[in-house]
Amino acid sequence: MECWACSKHKSFLCWLLMLMMIHILIMAEHTQGDCVEEERKALLEIKTSYMKSYGSEIDNFLPTWVDYGGGTPGDGGSNCCDWERINCSTTTGHVTKLSLYNLIGVEDVYMDNESKLWPLNVSLFLHFKELTSLNLSHNSLDKEFMKSGLERLSSLKKLEVLDLSFNFDIDNNILPSLMTLTSLKVLDLSNTSLNGNFPTNEFAALENLEVLDLSYCGFNGTFEVQGSERVSRLRKLKSLNLAGNWFNESKSNVGTISSSRYLL
Ligand SMILES: *[C@@H]1O[C@H](CO)[C@@H](O)[C@H](O)[C@H]1NC(C)=O
Ligand SMILES: *[C@@H]1O[C@H](CO)[C@@H](O)[C@H](O)[C@H]1NC(C)=O
Ligand SMILES: *[C@@H]1O[C@H](CO)[C@@H](O)[C@H](O)[C@H]1NC(C)=O
Ligand SMILES: *[C@@H]1O[C@H](CO)[C@@H](O)[C@H](O)[C@H]1NC(C)=O
Ligand SMILES: *[C@@H]1O[C@H](CO)[C@@H](O)[C@H](O)[C@H]1NC(C)=O
Ligand SMILES: *[C@@H]1O[C@H](CO)[C@@H](O)[C@H](O)[C@H]1NC(C)=O
Ligand SMILES: *[C@@H]1O[C@H](CO)[C@@H](O)[C@H](O)[C@H]1NC(C)=O
Repeated sequence: MECWACSKHKSFLCWLLMLMMIHILIMAEHTQGDCVEEERKALLEIKTSYMKSYGSEIDNFLPTWVDYGGGTPGDGGSNCCDWERINCSTTTGHVTKLSLYNLIGVEDVYMDNESKLWPLNVSLFLHFKELTSLNLSHNSLDKEFMKSGLERLSSLKKLEVLDLSFNFDIDNNILPSLMTLTSLKVLDLSNTSLNGNFPTNEFAALENLEVLDLSYCGFNGTFEVQGSERVSRLRKLKSLNLAGNWFNESKSNVGTISSSRYLL
């Protein structure tokens, strides 16, 4: 079959055109927008910070996160929107979603005794002005993370999803800064070392919360007395998971409450 641009004399031009069209189609599928330089640098710093904990022990770590120096936007290396675990806005190119769940890739959390603590500095995330979702679940974040100024994330006005679950060094020290993150709609702190009386005031401050997962923490006492009244101020709350805590009496295992009305 002869294509419209292909005659015997123009076959080179024909192939060039076809290759360009294929290239454009591939790019349209993969490009989510062009990466913002400041954000690209911050991502490389996040990678460096993680690798510092492990030294040379990890290879093939975030292999797409590479710095090709001053590449032009659009070539794979410099366009961080094409990197794994990242989503960008198609219109502005700003990073909207960071899926940094389980970076070391250990399958079984509880056999994970070789993972190193990650002294992550919250400052690195302040570059992502349009971030809506930050997933740092299961990364052995160290205690310094809680002191590195988590409240500054409140400058990210679009941040709606924060997952810090399965970071066993996270404890009640996180609460004062956490309660300032009022844009959050989904907060997962399950399987952390939060403990003791239910921190009612702190969670009641997060007025936009729709989903709160506090399962498998170490809360005890009586949730009904400490918590239910104030938590019921969270008018938008649709799901509160308190399974696997140590509450006393009939609510000793509250389970998944699917309607906030239950708490009124
Ligand atoms: C987000 O990024 C991931 C991995 O880079 C990709 O598989 C997914 O399709 C992206 N989602 C959207 C909505 O662009
Ligand atoms: C990790 O835990 C497993 C099972 O408890 C044990 O056999 C192994 O020796 C531990 N590894 C290290 C490095 O401690
Ligand atoms: C985090 O980074 C900021 C900015 O680079 C720096 O000022 C601060 O000292 C760092 N904090 C910690 C705990 O390392
Ligand atoms: C975080 O990422 C893990 C793995 O992809 C996923 O199972 C979990 O639901 C994510 N957390 C949130 C709050 O979306
Ligand atoms: C949290 O850890 C406990 C064990 O301490 C485990 O039984 C539970 O399944 C974990 N939660 C989730 C959501 O996997
Ligand atoms: C509740 O948990 C805290 C911290 O783990 C502990 O010190 C306290 O004794 C516990 N109280 C009860 C009544 O179990
Ligand atoms: C549960 O609460 C009752 C009083 O409400 C108290 O007598 C009992 O000791 C508590 N149980 C535990 C395990 O703390």
